[in-house]
Amino acid sequence: MSQAGASSAPGHSLTFSDDLRRIADSVNACLDDLLPLPDGPEQRVVEAMRYSALDGGKRLRPYLSIASADLFDVPRVQALRTGAAVEMVHCYSLIHDDLPAMDNGDLRRGRPTCHKAFDEATAILAGDALLTQAFAVLSADATHPDGDTRVKIIAALADAAGAAGMVGGQMLDLMAEQSDLGEEDVERLQALKTGRLLAAPCRIGGLLGQADADALESLDSYGYCLGAAFQITDDLLDLEATESDLGKATGKDAAAGKATFVSLHGPERARDRAKTLVDQAVAALSRFGDAAEPLRSAAAFTVSRRS
Ligand code: IPE
Ligand code: IPE
Ligand code: MG
Ligand code: MG
Ligand code: MG
Repeated sequence: MSQAGASSAPGHSLTFSDDLRRIADSVNACLDDLLPLPDGPEQRVVEAMRYSALDGGKRLRPYLSIASADLFDVPRVQALRTGAAVEMVHCYSLIHDDLPAMDNGDLRRGRPTCHKAFDEATAILAGDALLTQAFAVLSADATHPDGDTRVKIIAALADAAGAAGMVGGQMLDLMAEQSDLGEEDVERLQALKTGRLLAAPCRIGGLLGQADADALESLDSYGYCLGAAFQITDDLLDLEATESDLGKATGKDAAAGKATFVSLHGPERARDRAKTLVDQAVAALSRFGDAAEPLRSAAAFTVSRRS
């Protein structure tokens, strides 16, 4: 595993939560550098970007890009930059998800949502700018010296974030409030809205390390199963956790009539399904041996987490 760079490597000696916290610190520092406040009144939009991107959040997506890149001894700074770019896209998706036109959330990461702290128009612009800034970060030489590799990474994130990925899933999620979905529809919805942005950093870690097609496929399978388990757990937490644990309102899915694995089959079957998906995620890592231990820990965390 690469020890390059100032931040800690995911490893065996620390617990997963220590690893995640230390990576979160590096991600916060990286995002702070990438989002400097400009002069002039337009700095308001950057204040809103920094408000939503810098504090809080588990930083699981950057963890996945770093743990995947570490399989191929990628320099830490490269993995961190790609992780920060994916996190920017994730933060944009949360800002827009919380808007009144979507989930109408007041609380995010224990604080007022972006549109509550600023205003709706500023929140829309902050989300737009985080999305575009993410691709600017990926396009820079510091992300990877080889231009073809950078283009592949940009394409992977664009595909995961757009209409064939997160945005398409969010569309299905909103439409699901008005229609009855079956299990396959819910699985597809969740794979798009959440799975794609969790699988992307895994693939991107492999792309940074010039992984071969088989290794990329293993990372995709791992990310796909992890993403599905992650969203089922999010839906379980919406039902069972407290607002203060989650830092966001609970009970929203039932109130909005959202179709989820939990609403279709109840919490016990949902929990079993999430555990099965974690087993499948772990099975997809077999080719990587012990080096994939940090990814295995992330899979276990996905369903055991309480926030
Ligand atoms: C919340 O994601 C939105 C979903 C995709 C379910 P996270 O649970 O990763 O949120 P943060 O980044 O830790 O706040
Ligand atoms: C959001 O899913 C997924 C995104 C693409 C942002 P949710 O709507 O369930 O996420 P939370 O519960 O608000 O974090
Ligand atoms: Mg939503
Ligand atoms: Mg929401
Ligand atoms: Mg939710």
